[in-house]
Amino acid sequence: MRFIINLTLLTFFLISPLYANNHYPITRDSKVKIMEGKTLYNENCASCHQINLAGAPNWQGYDEDGHRLPPPLDGTGHTWHHSDEQLHSIIKYGLAKLVKNYEGKMIGFGEILNDRQIDSIIAYLKSYWGDDKYEFQIKLSKK
Ligand code: HEC
Repeated sequence: MRFIINLTLLTFFLISPLYANNHYPITRDSKVKIMEGKTLYNENCASCHQINLAGAPNWQGYDEDGHRLPPPLDGTGHTWHHSDEQLHSIIKYGLAKLVKNYEGKMIGFGEILNDRQIDSIIAYLKSYWGDDKYEFQIKLSKK
């Protein structure tokens, strides 16, 4: 009996890496997920990226501290050029962990939001994107 349990566990650990990323690509098919993402976005992100995801008015410029301004996440910027894995990392770890000597304002939310919540926010962002950008990014995320 014990042997069988161990075997089951072993099998699980052997195959689990295959499933580690199976939540990508993140689609915008689930209304429930998008609604959850919207609430979390409004609570955590809207203060900088704006309630309508439009970012700062002149987002390509810099703020008074010399840092980049919050870009739009609604598909008018370049967010859709990032794969789901990259977007997830940017939101989870912030750019500080990803870009050397980063001093900007995009901090990580890994201590506030769990992976599933981050993915719901990504689904919500995608609900704003035009079909062409959405399809492009889905293909990108499958790789
Ligand atoms: C304190 C302000 C602030 C908050 C809050 C904030 N961001 Fe950002 N975010 C920024 C700034 C500024 C940038 C641009 C980063 C840079 O280039 O330094 C950015 C960049 C990003 C990017 C990369 C965009 C791209 O087109 O490459 C994503 C994705 C993003 N933020 C998502 C989020 C999400 C999701 C949340 C909420 C969970 C959030 N941000 C909360 C300021 C913020």
